[in-house]
Amino acid sequence: MIMYGKKVMDHFMNPRNVGDIKDADGIGEVGNPVCGDMMTFYIKVKDNKLDDVKFKTFGCGAAIAVSSMVSEMAKGKTLDEALKISNKSVAEELGGLPKNKLHCSNLGADALHKAIENYQEKQKNKK
Ligand code: FES
Repeated sequence: MIMYGKKVMDHFMNPRNVGDIKDADGIGEVGNPVCGDMMTFYIKVKDNKLDDVKFKTFGCGAAIAVSSMVSEMAKGKTLDEALKISNKSVAEELGGLPKNKLHCSNLGADALHKAIENYQEKQKNKK
């Protein structure tokens, strides 16, 4: 039986910001090479800040908790700040994850970064 901390359980049982954004400014999708689970992040950008962040996942409980935490950490941040959110800082914010579940924490931050890159690419193409 894996032991999860209180914060992980809270985000797993009541994940924040689940869903998608219909007219998202950026979308990032990643697959976990370890387990094959998928994660998608949607972002809305306003004045270079993350106005809204939502995610959808087929991942496990730890992946859900991680993404929920990533979405909360990212909201309201500038794009540069959000790009600095790392898999490690998320796991720390959650009070740690069991070792054999650390690979699950990779999905959240990676998908968020991809969504931001997707947005930045779109901006470039507009110019
Ligand atoms: Fe796949 Fe956790 S087991 S994301």
